Amino acid sequence: MTFEAIKKKLADYDQLHILEDYETLTPQAQAALCAQIGRLDFGILKTAADSENNRRGEFAPPSAMSLSEIDARRKTLEKTGLEALAAGTVGAVLLAGGEGTRLGYDGPKGAMNIGETRELSLYELHFENLKKRMAISGKPIPLFIMTSASTDAETKAFLEEKEYFGYPKDAVWLFEQDMAVCTDFSDKVFFDAEGHIAESPNGNGGWFSSMLKAGLLKTVEQLGIEWLNVFAVDNALQQIADPCFVGAVIESGSESGAKVVGKAAPDERVGVLCLEDGKPSIVEYFEMEKEMSERRNPDGSLTYRYGVILNYLFSMKRLVKIGGANLPIHKAKKKIPYRNTDGERVRPTDVNGYKYETLVLDMVRLQESCLAYEVSREAEFAPIKNRDGVDSLDTARILLKNAGFVL
Ligand code: UTP
Repeated sequence: MTFEAIKKKLADYDQLHILEDYETLTPQAQAALCAQIGRLDFGILKTAADSENNRRGEFAPPSAMSLSEIDARRKTLEKTGLEALAAGTVGAVLLAGGEGTRLGYDGPKGAMNIGETRELSLYELHFENLKKRMAISGKPIPLFIMTSASTDAETKAFLEEKEYFGYPKDAVWLFEQDMAVCTDFSDKVFFDAEGHIAESPNGNGGWFSSMLKAGLLKTVEQLGIEWLNVFAVDNALQQIADPCFVGAVIESGSESGAKVVGKAAPDERVGVLCLEDGKPSIVEYFEMEKEMSERRNPDGSLTYRYGVILNYLFSMKRLVKIGGANLPIHKAKKKIPYRNTDGERVRPTDVNGYKYETLVLDMVRLQESCLAYEVSREAEFAPIKNRDGVDSLDTARILLKNAGFVL
């Protein structure tokens, strides 16, 4: 890219401030900055602005497979799911590219020690869960782990050191998602070091396009995988490739499924599965009108009560059709380390700008159907998001102990 083309690219997205100190940089630093500008997609700034104006459709509550229905049909559902697992048609995708800024742990969240009297990580819990599945299905579940530039090297080193907790290493693939620019609240791109633009992972919605980019579609096809179970690294009670869930989605004839929990309160901060213009869709808690979040059925239950826990089952058939479809870009307010005008690197204690992210929940809107599959919060949902308070290490530890884990 010529310098003129670089200037034009920055001018097009109103980011010319990036070149303000250009003349003071060494020739090597100038070349590195130009290469970074050439590589980065500034178009997301515009897509994000357009996404904010996306109009939503008509909402309606979805039907769901409730806990009691699941219990009544458990045997049959599990049988169907186990057959799929034993046939090797189910793979899993672990989303582990996030920076975990709310938690503030210095390293990949999955590697953090959450034990009290022994060393225990989220990765160990997930691999133990997979080993349980392998023991009953007779086959390892192929596992694809999405990392990012922020987590990749440390995740690889950690898993190598722990020898994948005894899980067959040849059933595990790591791939990296892309990074995106981040900006201050006036949408101006930050620097995080002299001559270096701050970057952050571009959200968990890009997992399938990143798998395509990494050439993993061929692997998925060669393995005969028909379903991918996508889940977050930070739920300590995560149930991966759950035979009953897999069986329920297959038996329901749905293209996809989402594990959901009954919302604890109208204002709980979880996305809610619903129908939008007759299609499955998720409304984030901050997008929900008060009237919608508080609406109740005649029996007193919340009308929009099914909160998603980031555990989805997607069919390869639909994923291949979706391909690298453009998802909306969300501007998420985060604490972004940056270089201040005195040249110092600052780690802010409060949110100071936006990260630009696509979200896996927007893939649900691209499905023809999605089974809402209810799970018990106590048994399956112990997210570790915050340093303290709700959804923190403390709350997850209590839930783990209640579920019988020795920490
Ligand atoms: P969150 O949306 O909670 O983000 O991720 P986060 O980065 O972990 O934490 P905060 O918001 O900065 O505090 C939900 C899941 O999606 C993954 C995370 O690793 C987690 O498993 N994720 C998130 C990615 O894989 N890539 C991303 O770019 C963002």
